[in-house]
Amino acid sequence: MKIIHVVGARPNFVKIAPIIEAIRRHNRSAHRPIEGLLVHTGQHYDEKMSKLFFDDLEIPKPDINLEVGSASHAEQTAEIMKRFENICLDHRPTHILVVGDVNSTIACALVASKLNIKIIHVEAGLRSFDRSMPEEINRILTDAISDYLFVTEKSGEDNLLKEGIPGEKIFFVGNVMIDTLLKHKEKAERSKILDHLGLRHLTADGPVIKDYGVLTLHRPSNVDERETFQNILEALLDVSERLPVFFPVHPRTRAKIAEFDFGRHFAPTSGIDPSRGMRLIDPLGYLDFLSLMSRAKIVLTDSGGMQEETTALGIPCVTLRENTERPVTVTHGTNVIAGVEKKRIVQCALSALNLSGPGSYGPAPSLPPLWDGKAAERL
Ligand code: UD1
Repeated sequence: MKIIHVVGARPNFVKIAPIIEAIRRHNRSAHRPIEGLLVHTGQHYDEKMSKLFFDDLEIPKPDINLEVGSASHAEQTAEIMKRFENICLDHRPTHILVVGDVNSTIACALVASKLNIKIIHVEAGLRSFDRSMPEEINRILTDAISDYLFVTEKSGEDNLLKEGIPGEKIFFVGNVMIDTLLKHKEKAERSKILDHLGLRHLTADGPVIKDYGVLTLHRPSNVDERETFQNILEALLDVSERLPVFFPVHPRTRAKIAEFDFGRHFAPTSGIDPSRGMRLIDPLGYLDFLSLMSRAKIVLTDSGGMQEETTALGIPCVTLRENTERPVTVTHGTNVIAGVEKKRIVQCALSALNLSGPGSYGPAPSLPPLWDGKAAERL
């Protein structure tokens, strides 16, 4: 086998790390090693959105970077396709492996399918049933042309079968993102981010960590329109009256905050009153972010991956969307789907905060099946 592994955007890096490691382990004792090439499309390119993750997760430097950068969906997808086709023609892989649901995922899968290269899709079968989400289109189309579909939760398998994908192509292996989390949890505890943000203080009885929340927000449907974004911000400002909320801000969201002149809503990072307010900070690397998330009282987010990570950590998660493609985080985990209406967000956040008294959450009530740190090995 000769596999081209494709990554493009931040969540992809977290998923590819354990897969590359598992293949390396396999190759050490394998009769016939699996050849591999790592291709970064360059969909994400800022140091804090890309390189920091390669460093933290010890992912080998990409063999090839297509350097496509940002553009409209059509332009970005087309540019990745054009450049990736040349790579496939030059290197003649037997398989390509794509992860998740970003534009790089569908673009490279489509190229491979036309060249009769086998496609492996990791994190297949997730469905929000909301076709206004660009990721939902990417998921459905990638799955339709994939040859090996690896799913993270049972719903993935059910969805694929309903779409007519033959059962023998589907493999329920668990969640590679959780492999990465479990592997790095201890290392993340050595991160200094809590000290840098003034959240940890040394007392005579040892270190004390203040109560705080973590927020991320970057979905186009939440931040691209002034009214929706304002509505969500107002709810979050209400929540941040109870405890400070730290907001590592995605470049798309930062641009929108500037465009809508929303900067006035945020407190300075080292604020006058450190016990409340919403604080914008730069995007964090994997270890710092894991450290921040794993000690939070509450996480508010529109990210898909963080719904899973909070479930594994047992941290209450309030999802700022009307749906989730990861239902196991609600049935087994700590996730509540709050939607984007102000009143409901505040209600969900307050009840999550009440629940998160000492000891009431702790480790996840029950970890979803096969979220055990061994998904990449099985895959
Ligand atoms: C992409 C994925 C989304 C994923 C998210 C994780 C698609 C359709 N969306 O969304 O599923 O949840 O990544 O972060 O693939 N930008 C920078 N620096 C960067 C990258 C982006 O400044 O390194 C800015 C650019 O202005 C760009 C905007 O962010 O136009 C959006 O980036 P893009 O990759 O198009 O989509 P994301 O919103 O990041």
